[in-house]
Amino acid sequence: MTTFPRWRGRRLRRTGAIRALVRETRLTPERMILPLFVTEGEGVRETVGSMPGVFRTSVDAAMEDIGEAVALGLGGVLLFGIPDQKDAEGSQAWHEQAAVQRTVAAIKKAHPDLTVVTDVCLCEYTEHGHCGLLKDGHVDNDDTLDLLARTALSHARAGADVVAPSDMMDGRVGAIRRVLDDEGFQQVAILSYAAKYASTFYGPFREAAGSASDFGDRRGYQMDPANQDEALREVRADIAEGADMIMVKPALAYLDVIHRVKTETGWPVAAYQVSGEYAAIMAAAERGWLDGDRAMEETLMSIARAGADVVITYWAREFARRNG
Ligand code: PBG
Repeated sequence: MTTFPRWRGRRLRRTGAIRALVRETRLTPERMILPLFVTEGEGVRETVGSMPGVFRTSVDAAMEDIGEAVALGLGGVLLFGIPDQKDAEGSQAWHEQAAVQRTVAAIKKAHPDLTVVTDVCLCEYTEHGHCGLLKDGHVDNDDTLDLLARTALSHARAGADVVAPSDMMDGRVGAIRRVLDDEGFQQVAILSYAAKYASTFYGPFREAAGSASDFGDRRGYQMDPANQDEALREVRADIAEGADMIMVKPALAYLDVIHRVKTETGWPVAAYQVSGEYAAIMAAAERGWLDGDRAMEETLMSIARAGADVVITYWAREFARRNG
């Protein structure tokens, strides 16, 4: 008779079927959101050098990708716009006929049930590349709020289900909620990029969106990577202002933050696996230094395990193809 060891962890790891039976975290395509970059023109599909498999597309080409997202059962798409003209205010951000607004309308016509999320920010639209209005060389918080609210309203008018402010101005969730409610869009939800860190992992995105700032950096408004308590303050402030869901961004370097936000608020939490997280693994996989598919699945699983309800990832379609 053996008494040692009574418990053996390996018994439940013996076969694939047993492992599946006791798996704690399950990740499904319906929890995933695919980010897309839409631009002006027609028949446009430009590659983004640092993000293999990611493109800048005109509305017609975007609709092909969106059709695929629907067929794969993804939870939604997140739209970023790339204008062909920029100015000091970023006025193309709220233009009714700009690429994002036209894409939203086209999706709602072709796929009314697909959840459409729009990124609300000015950095893709301003000539200086910062996320708000500049005043005396710095980003003016309060004057930016009105422009963000206008942008969110234009997305709601086009048919967006969810607007997602990513600018990190103080008070923007409240400003957006007020305008949406005043204009009859009580049902449009706000997913706030509540804990958005000043991260080097946004580098490839800025290439994709042409939104690198031409001076300075974003540490005056995005969060210090050293801080965790502050993330909770940001999240609570956004919830108090009317955020329906909150986001932590980037994901992999901030799993502790995802976990804490989820356990301490119980609120729906989204995590954004950003461009640099994607690019780093893709580059290593291209060199044969990592198995790209397995690295994708392991990182996505870790984000879900940390507590994210929703995962925003450039791999949403690949994941769904492999796990649909
Ligand atoms: C816009 C915005 C950024 C990202 C999402 N929204 C860039 C930034 O803040 O510089 C980054 C997304 C990514 O890296 O995939 N403010």
